[in-house]
Amino acid sequence: MHASEPTSTTWRLIGAALLSIMLTAPAAAQEPSGEPPRDDQPIVLDVPYVPTPHEAVYRMLELVQVQPDDYVIDLGSGDGRIVIAAARDWGVKRALGIDIDPVRIAEANAAAQEAGVADRVAFERGDLFEKDFSDVDVLTMYLLPSINLDLRPIILEKLRPGTRVASHAFDMGDWRPDEWILVQGRYVYKWVVPARIEGRWEVTRADGRKFTVDIRQTYQRIEGMALIEGRARPLVFADIRGPTLRFSLANEHYTGLVDGERITALPGNKVVTAWHAKRI
Ligand SMILES: C[S@@+](CC[C@H](N)C(=O)[O-])C[C@H]1O[C@@H](n2cnc3c(N)ncnc32)[C@H](O)[C@@H]1O
Repeated sequence: MHASEPTSTTWRLIGAALLSIMLTAPAAAQEPSGEPPRDDQPIVLDVPYVPTPHEAVYRMLELVQVQPDDYVIDLGSGDGRIVIAAARDWGVKRALGIDIDPVRIAEANAAAQEAGVADRVAFERGDLFEKDFSDVDVLTMYLLPSINLDLRPIILEKLRPGTRVASHAFDMGDWRPDEWILVQGRYVYKWVVPARIEGRWEVTRADGRKFTVDIRQTYQRIEGMALIEGRARPLVFADIRGPTLRFSLANEHYTGLVDGERITALPGNKVVTAWHAKRI
């Protein structure tokens, strides 16, 4: 259920328009300060405050399929609307908003009280680049293209494979989104953090056969070559989605769960069920 992919012209027009809205907002965008905020220092915003329209908030949370057990964090949470909607409309038990501006934090706390979700949500004042959000299940953001790009390595390295990320308006460069939708003229993007699987693996099957696989990875796109009894054979339909790896080899299908240096077989229809792999 993708909207058709934005053309580069459409993207440039939408991006330019949104950037101009953001950049003409009261606070001017700044380069990241790298300093934690102190009450006696003037606030330096990396991104001006522009709220996400409520319809886009709803569709954003729908796109990432928020579940009650998900821990949701909105980076640069503004008046708290994404965090509050996650608790109020999606039954999330725990959600956090991080914002550098104490005025926004006060607004968000008041809105959470009014929405009756203050016991399930929290708002912390702080710089999003200083906070550890590695335990999140769903990360949301409406920031700026350059900030998204600065966050990209943190998201890919620190967040668990399978973590869902949604961004209003801005993408993450050549990390293509897994899905996107158009809401009232605005794009909302979704990514699933892929397991890091690049490298050489030794696969052992229950029937005793062993072979090695070399995998090359660009974000969620992978390709691989297996070496079976001295013969190179390409992986077919190779795919990594969160921690789940799938590939076909010599007309057999493999599905596995990647956990760091090991892969364990996942059950499935017509798949090789007894195998495991380790990184070598
Ligand atoms: C475009 S608004 C998005 C607000 C909200 N997430 C939404 O979608 O409605 C960006 C927010 O990021 C906050 N912000 C800017 N720089 C920040 C930083 N370095 N750390 C944390 N929050 C920041 C601003 O105060 C503002 O509330």
